[in-house]
Amino acid sequence: MDKKEMRKMIKQRLAAMDRPVYEQKSFDIAAKMYALAEWKHAKTIAITVSADFEVDTWQLIRFAWLTGKIVCVPKCSPDTKSMQFYRLEKFSDLEKVYAGLYEPNPEKATPIFSNQLDLVIVPGLLFDQKGFRIGFGGGYYDRFLSSYEGQTISLAFSIQLLETLPVEKYDLPVQKIVTDEEIIIC
Ligand SMILES: Nc1ncnc2c1ncn2[C@@H]1O[C@H](COP(=O)(O)OP(=O)(O)OP(=O)(O)O)[C@@H](O)[C@H]1O
Ligand SMILES: [Mg+2]
Repeated sequence: MDKKEMRKMIKQRLAAMDRPVYEQKSFDIAAKMYALAEWKHAKTIAITVSADFEVDTWQLIRFAWLTGKIVCVPKCSPDTKSMQFYRLEKFSDLEKVYAGLYEPNPEKATPIFSNQLDLVIVPGLLFDQKGFRIGFGGGYYDRFLSSYEGQTISLAFSIQLLETLPVEKYDLPVQKIVTDEEIIIC
């Protein structure tokens, strides 16, 4: 299977998860995340707004706000394949962009630069034990991580974990993966 087929396969498996199972596993992942020192000590967190089939990040954003953290979400530029984070203070500031994703409106939000981030929660579709990822295919996070030196954690359902993945020259691993069953230190 090539990366494109692997992305399609896992998206189908994720979309087939029953709502109660999805909610419970997302809750288990969030609870594990809140117990990590990286989360507890982070004042400024970068996170994506999850699509329907991904581990729910809306609850992490809510909890981060309630506990006084600064939440930053990315705006992707498809022409340059680059990404800029903006502070998010309310969900209603998000706008729907391509592929049904939600992003901040750069005209209304404050930009946040990578040296201001304590923790980046890196999205992905598939992960291996070393922290390598198959993401959504834009290379946005691989480009971003090449100049980011802070902490990185990914969230994944157990079905998104494989023993090994095809790794390409720009792929960079994350430091930890939090799943509904375990925390993997990569
Ligand atoms: N740092 C980089 N510099 C130049 N090109 C890059 C860089 N990182 C990734 N790319 C290119 O971007 C394309 C997509 O990369 P890849 O398939 O690894 O995406 P991905 O990891 O699924 O996406 P993402 O990083 O957004 O989660 C590939 O052609 C890859 O070579
Ligand atoms: Mg990659």
